[in-house]
Amino acid sequence: MYLTKEEEKILNGEQGEVAERMFRLLVQLGDIYGADKMIPVGSVQVAGVSYKSIADPGTEFLEDLARKGAKVKVLTYLNPAGMDLENWETLKFPKEFAKNQLRIMDAFKSMGIVITATCTPYLAGNLPRFREHIAWSESSAISFANSVIGARTNREGGPSALAAALLGRTPNYGFHLWENRQPSIKVKVETELTFDADYGALGYHVGKQVKNKIPYFVGIKNADTDQLKSLGAAMAASGAVALYHVEGLTPEADLVKKDNLETITVTKKELDEAYAKLNTGKEPDIVILGCPHASLREISLVAEKLKGKHLRKPVWVCTSRMMKEAADRMGFTDTIVKAGGQIVADTCMVVSPIEDMGYKTTGVNSGKAGNYLPGFCKQNVCFANLDKLLEAVQ
Ligand code: F3S
Repeated sequence: MYLTKEEEKILNGEQGEVAERMFRLLVQLGDIYGADKMIPVGSVQVAGVSYKSIADPGTEFLEDLARKGAKVKVLTYLNPAGMDLENWETLKFPKEFAKNQLRIMDAFKSMGIVITATCTPYLAGNLPRFREHIAWSESSAISFANSVIGARTNREGGPSALAAALLGRTPNYGFHLWENRQPSIKVKVETELTFDADYGALGYHVGKQVKNKIPYFVGIKNADTDQLKSLGAAMAASGAVALYHVEGLTPEADLVKKDNLETITVTKKELDEAYAKLNTGKEPDIVILGCPHASLREISLVAEKLKGKHLRKPVWVCTSRMMKEAADRMGFTDTIVKAGGQIVADTCMVVSPIEDMGYKTTGVNSGKAGNYLPGFCKQNVCFANLDKLLEAVQ
């Protein structure tokens, strides 16, 4: 791989041990995947934030980097944590978990990383532009950035994203190159998509079928950005889809080559089967919404449906701190709390310790959450649309 004079100096340790170590990681990655050079990135999103995911070794690694003075060079956001960073006590997150989670946040903060912990950074102040090179690491955010925005990112792991943040660059391979953004399979959707959960079920089914291919969808008439984020998140979870195109909707759909593609068709039958597979539970102990993190529109919808209602069981709406503040100002939080629900900021249900908090069956409208909760949180899952979920806990 071609390296500039400055990059050679980094590799020779002239910018310190941390820069050398992290840059070596990027060079190795570039060599493995045949990158020709390094390219600057506009922003980074770092995963590996929850104490549940990285435990003591990961925490100590981050603290060591922070002690050695590591600082990021570009706008860097964080993936969700395992709890609400401000409201964890009220929400009854375990004390020991909270103590360790806060240590992790301190380490990130001292590296100059914005401790906005969210999987929807594009809704919270980190919005890349079309064709901008970025290094993001949360799979639904990657999918949204590549597909809905047309920015360019590989599926970064925690360490490679952190290295990109500290160096401000990433190796030029994979989805950074136009030739690798071409669709490899056509997906004909021949069923109505009525509820948001339908997009999660569609994504869950298609991800399982296409694995890591790049789908080109036809037949999706009019999805909004919330529905596209749900579709992409589910495909990234059940398969490894990091980029998809939707005819008439996503920005690269008109530009890519889509002749003579292998084609699969999704009808109501496949959608119903996806619902059936995602449903492993009977009655939820808790309903958790906001996977990916809820937009203000999604929060307002929940508030509207819960106005004057009384919940028998907890309902969490996970979102970013920014969206929560907007929801507070608009009175949505108040409405949800009066009904007995909570807006939970900073948190990903999958990396939060819900199984240790006594929950066994979780109701979700997210194909991604439905895919992960049984394995990561030992949960049975009730997968349904928003109305049905809220009915089940009133
Ligand atoms: Fe976000 Fe966690 Fe879902 S990172 S997309 S809330 S699994």
